[in-house]
Amino acid sequence: MTVKYGAVTALDNVDIALEPGVVHGVIGPNGAGKSTFIDALSGRTKLSSGKVMLDGTDITARPVGWRRHSGISRSFQRTSVFGSMTVRAQLEMIAFQNKEPDLSGIVASLGLKDVLDRVCSEIAYGTQRSVDLAIALIGRPRVVLLDEPCAGLVADESVRMLQHVRDLCKERGVAVLLVEHDVDGVFRTCDQITVLNLGKVLASGEPAEVRKNADVVRAYLGSAA
Ligand SMILES: Nc1ncnc2c1ncn2[C@@H]1O[C@H](COP(=O)(O)OP(=O)(O)O)[C@@H](O)[C@H]1O
Ligand SMILES: [Mg+2]
Repeated sequence: MTVKYGAVTALDNVDIALEPGVVHGVIGPNGAGKSTFIDALSGRTKLSSGKVMLDGTDITARPVGWRRHSGISRSFQRTSVFGSMTVRAQLEMIAFQNKEPDLSGIVASLGLKDVLDRVCSEIAYGTQRSVDLAIALIGRPRVVLLDEPCAGLVADESVRMLQHVRDLCKERGVAVLLVEHDVDGVFRTCDQITVLNLGKVLASGEPAEVRKNADVVRAYLGSAA
């Protein structure tokens, strides 16, 4: 797919396949096109060329709501919880809209039971991010797109968040796209990694291969690799 914003080519012929039960990480410097890629898959941004396929069907023309109901869900780079509602009210509302049969399973797996009756804006920021992840999991999505779920988390919260993401991917057989700034976390968590730079794929493959890739080391990982 290619996405242009006026003169800026945010994504240039990017071709990435997501698979059930696989955590696919996308990393790259600021402006690389990571959020644009999520926007293009979720339907928020129109492609300039190329297509989005779901199970072999071309869904490029399908709007955001259709994609959500067809199993593609996402989280946002900024937490999207509604401040004035309780966690329970918020989750139940979205579960109702998306016909989720097992909200309590989602709540339990993310350790949110104890905060159900608290107001969203009053719970710790790290817990808000977990509520955000719970929202993305409602409705049995087959594809979950996560835009920097660890943004603003302290180190141990980050580790826990990424462990949740990996466990949920494996338990539910979901295809996960993980965009994350924490490069160590991505290498630890993902089965596949794609490195974007200026809208182009610099490298793609298993973590060990990507870490060795000379172009990636030069452009992005530097001596830290
Ligand atoms: N809505 C928009 N309008 C114009 N340019 C945009 C818009 N969104 C992103 N861009 C540009 O597209 C490029 C990729 O941005 P983005 O996908 O947000 O990168 P990342 O998430 O990797 O930091 C950047 O050059 C950015 O300035
Ligand atoms: Mg971004």
